[in-house]
Amino acid sequence: MSALLRRWVWFGAGRCLLVASLFFPGLQRAADAPRVHQSFDFAWRFCRGEAGGAQQPGFDDAAWRQLDLPHDWSIEGPYDEHAATGGSGGYLPAGIGWYRKHFTVPEGLRGRQVTVEFDGVYMNSDVWINGRHLGGWPYGYTSFCFDLTPDLHFGDQPNVLAVRVDNSQQPGSRWYSGSGIDRHVWITITDPLHVAHWGTWVTTPDVSAESATVRIRTRVQNGRPEAQAVTLISELVGSGDAVEVAVPSDGLLAAGSEREFDQTVTLGHPRRWSPDTPELYRLRSRVVVGGRIVDETVTPFGVRQCEFDAARGFLLNHEPVKLRGMCLHHDGGAVGAAVPEAVWARRLRLLKEMGCNAVRTAHNPPAPEFLDLCDRLGLLVMDEAFDEWTIRKPQIAHGYSSYFNDWYERDLTAMIHRDRNHPCVVLWSAGNEIGEQEANAGPEVLRKLIAVFHREDPTRPVTVAMDNIFNQHGRAPAAFTDQLDVVGYNYVDRWGTRRETQYRDDHDQFPQRKFIGTEDSSVRGTRGVYRFGPLLGPETWTGEVTPAPGPEGALYLGEAMRAASLWRFEALHDYVAGDFAWTGIDYLGEARWPRKGATSGSLDTCGFKKDGFYFYQSLWTNQPMLHLLPHWNWPDRLGKVVPVVACTNCAAVELFLNGRSLGAKAREFPQQGVTKAWNSYGQPQIQATTDDFQLVWDVVYEPGELKAVGYDRNAAVVAGAVVRTAGPAAALALTVDRATLAADARDVAHVTVEVQDANGVVVPDADNNVTFTMEGDGTLLGVDNGDPLSHASYRANSRQVFHGLALALVQAGTRGGAIRVTATSPGLKEAAVVLQAVPAAEADAPVVVDVDR
Ligand code: GAL
Repeated sequence: MSALLRRWVWFGAGRCLLVASLFFPGLQRAADAPRVHQSFDFAWRFCRGEAGGAQQPGFDDAAWRQLDLPHDWSIEGPYDEHAATGGSGGYLPAGIGWYRKHFTVPEGLRGRQVTVEFDGVYMNSDVWINGRHLGGWPYGYTSFCFDLTPDLHFGDQPNVLAVRVDNSQQPGSRWYSGSGIDRHVWITITDPLHVAHWGTWVTTPDVSAESATVRIRTRVQNGRPEAQAVTLISELVGSGDAVEVAVPSDGLLAAGSEREFDQTVTLGHPRRWSPDTPELYRLRSRVVVGGRIVDETVTPFGVRQCEFDAARGFLLNHEPVKLRGMCLHHDGGAVGAAVPEAVWARRLRLLKEMGCNAVRTAHNPPAPEFLDLCDRLGLLVMDEAFDEWTIRKPQIAHGYSSYFNDWYERDLTAMIHRDRNHPCVVLWSAGNEIGEQEANAGPEVLRKLIAVFHREDPTRPVTVAMDNIFNQHGRAPAAFTDQLDVVGYNYVDRWGTRRETQYRDDHDQFPQRKFIGTEDSSVRGTRGVYRFGPLLGPETWTGEVTPAPGPEGALYLGEAMRAASLWRFEALHDYVAGDFAWTGIDYLGEARWPRKGATSGSLDTCGFKKDGFYFYQSLWTNQPMLHLLPHWNWPDRLGKVVPVVACTNCAAVELFLNGRSLGAKAREFPQQGVTKAWNSYGQPQIQATTDDFQLVWDVVYEPGELKAVGYDRNAAVVAGAVVRTAGPAAALALTVDRATLAADARDVAHVTVEVQDANGVVVPDADNNVTFTMEGDGTLLGVDNGDPLSHASYRANSRQVFHGLALALVQAGTRGGAIRVTATSPGLKEAAVVLQAVPAAEADAPVVVDVDR
């Protein structure tokens, strides 16, 4: 079997053919005409800085560094207080970089169309094939492709693809952008007659438990020199590869023409997509000419119906679903902007565990695999386009406003065409806190943007994340707000009495308005850091803490009060669809030296859980949980009060210190009230001692063991938590998020190191330096500890633990086998863990050959 055919089979065609022939007997696969969609990530050459003439194929790049994509050179550092990116960019470098790739294309592929696709290049990229300029693409967050065919060499003569990336205009972003080809690159090889790029579009206009209407639009391009009579066969494939529906359509395509096929089919008893049941179908599209399949694509999609309603909020499959959302920036901590899928997979799973069911891609379109993960894991997505339109933000000299007029339509179209098949995407956002909210020209700019959204995807509503719905000038102009399908509120509670009334005033005044909280305060703070008096104001986003007058005390989760009162309002008011808290995960940038990042996450940059994680989990989940804070190592506070907080969803919690009960406390939300008749309560009555979402005890500190027991409404024990005073650091302990990973040079395992005392208790103030050594075919992709003040390199083989914890990211090679990770630290017992890298199923040779490999 030829390599080509083997790959064809690997793409699942073998099984498909069998199924196809059940529906359409006599079909034959053209062995010489498959579509190949292949990674183009491996074996690039890279040079940081300007490299005159590097677009020419003969340029000598032998001394350049060899690397695999995705790649972000900014994250390699170093940090510099005077970096041009400033605090917005995390004080990391930007500048110019060049990438070159040498490859050959077998002679047998002559006559095919060969396309290169970039999922994202930050930013201002220019691309050349064999010295010919193919074009440029400024925005770093949208995907684009070029046809390489006319300039390609076939056979043994190598080709050179060169990419110049220019991120030198700084400051260029309000958050860490990264620099480089920081997303995947793909090569696609097709017959000249093929399904167009992003050419399939599946919608499900009517969905019920009994049936779903599925509309399939498919753009087919005929690049052949003569007209072609084409049959498009669209198959809906369910789980287990079963074809549930198949529909053929015929069409005649003139040479060089494109045609859109529009098909509508009905699915019986569909498995509907939702966060709880993230069921996916696949659309298999086959282009058939004369009984031969000349192209085939597979498009995952979900059957679901979404609607925003002025009275009932967000409805998914006709049922109200409150969006429990988190805003996320695109960086992955130690890996910067080049985030392996496994890193996002772990992070998103953790957010789901917290009870989050929605994410906002602040403030840009994400990498495609991010949306694939949201489809598979069941997370609703608000997909956002821009942070600037025509009006530049004051602190950013070179933001998107420099490109908006020339590029907004291309960028929006690329975003919508790429993302509109994802069931997870339920809302488009045209922008975040853009200056046009109040400008005279604002409504007209918004009109143009909405026109593109509605033209390219009339099925989803459009919002804008507005921070000036109401301010000292009064209301945002109706000419702006009234155009929005759903009105997005950033920090709904920040203006005067709205802290109490939240959305109510506007709902009373605009009863037809559809509301969503596009951004709100979450529980900020640095993992493991607890402050005692004098009473302190909340941490600002730059990490500063303002001293406030008042008695000595500790402000534990002080900001949780604000998030709790917002949640209380949203939970009780159906018309608010939900909200997105700022942010789910700590991120790089938006900091003031010596800080390099923002600590507004419920997870730190390592993905370690902060107290805020448990706070949200207590609001958003029903599985009994109980978390105590702070840690219990306060030698300076012997005999003084240390407030102890329980985050819980239990009906009541009893706290014990060294075996003595300090009393039980209960939370009560929603409040109980009389139902049906006088003195008849819907739930058993509990004497609540606090009506907040957190239970707090003032405990006179003594070392030992704090233990909490959680009870349900029948006083049965349903959860527990223990916090112990740790002794001196004695040993390292390692845990991994997964024991096996794919040997594909991409997959990543997360190794957590803890510094423990002799009894296995994590030492909360430990800052020991830990060195990682690796044996086997794996590399240390990065190390991190979540400390926003650390300027240590993510690329070192050692890291200080921060409040007892650090993280090592281990990436598999291609050989497979055992990868042993050992952690050592002077004076501490070492620890080791063994991961297994299993050979990737894709063992055959790629069609396009990496010359450097
Ligand atoms: C918001 C803004 C975010 C971030 C945040 C910091 O107003 O939309 O991008 O800057 O403030 O708290």
